[in-house]
Amino acid sequence: MKTPANFFKPLAIGAPEPIRELPTALERTIHFLPPHIEKMRAKAGQTAAKVDVLLGNLEDAIPIEAKEAARTGFIEVAKAVDFGQTGLWTRVNALNSPWFLDDMTEIVGAVGNKLDVVMVPKVEGPWDIHFVDQLLALLEARHSIGKPILIHAILETAQGVKNVDEIAQASPRMHGMSLGPADLAASRGMKTTRVGGGHPFYGVLADPDENKAERDFYQQDLWHYTVARMVDACLSNGLRAFYGPFGDFEDGAACEAQFRNAFLQGCVGAWTLHPNQIEIAKRVFSPEAGEVLFAKRILEAMPDGSGAVMIDGKMQDDATWKQAKVIVDLARLVATKDPERAAAYGF
Ligand code: GLV
Ligand code: MG
Repeated sequence: MKTPANFFKPLAIGAPEPIRELPTALERTIHFLPPHIEKMRAKAGQTAAKVDVLLGNLEDAIPIEAKEAARTGFIEVAKAVDFGQTGLWTRVNALNSPWFLDDMTEIVGAVGNKLDVVMVPKVEGPWDIHFVDQLLALLEARHSIGKPILIHAILETAQGVKNVDEIAQASPRMHGMSLGPADLAASRGMKTTRVGGGHPFYGVLADPDENKAERDFYQQDLWHYTVARMVDACLSNGLRAFYGPFGDFEDGAACEAQFRNAFLQGCVGAWTLHPNQIEIAKRVFSPEAGEVLFAKRILEAMPDGSGAVMIDGKMQDDATWKQAKVIVDLARLVATKDPERAAAYGF
């Protein structure tokens, strides 16, 4: 374990100072762009304007023969587009793949000053983060990058879940984590072929009821345990937690339900792989207007955040003041980007 002073020292001579607190950012939608496809690159500017984060995907779903084209395509997009308030991320190939080293060196060399976050797949433990951390510091120093490029880990192996706390604590460069339900299911030997979402056989059977011929069956959320562990690891270290991909593009309702479970548990965003998931993610990860208006009333009723008051018959105290503040802070952030929601929230 490093001493606190060393933890916050740059890892290479000439690399920027590590950050001590994450910059505020609205990250409801991490939209995946396949950068080897010309049509997608041509629309990247328009897409960036609709989402909170645009991510150039270089890893899974990119065919082996298109890996280099995806990398150069991402660099082309990163140079050409003015991202404004939208974050620019990339998902690089796995650390043991033949592409990882060139992904990192070419991208940081070409567009390191525009890149906010590198998403690292299949992270198993803090050693993976230390390696990427050191490499980024060397590349930042070589290319005179002004601010540290952050690391986002995908939680998608059984060992990664076991080590989730150590991963969250591995570096001041850590931005957060996303659940990767497809790789995680495979790694754990779960018996599902779906990318996220529930499974019709995972649930509990109600007790027998003599008035009913059939016993009720209640489907459960397969990802509840992992999302909860990820949220605790991230939030206790000042990081952000995200739901990852939802693979059934036709089933918007199920996507929305899965995203909402993650939001209510503490996640701030999700991946969007298809354009029709963008509005779903924005809706789910923006607090609901009624909830915001009630939270504002709590804050107004308790200006110094202490004591106890009753609002509409419900007890409020220091703890509910903090809950209300989480919601109002998020609503304020959403309002900076979304005039319609700002009006509904009364800002
Ligand atoms: C995402 O990368 C996943 O494996 O679900
Ligand atoms: Mg994966």
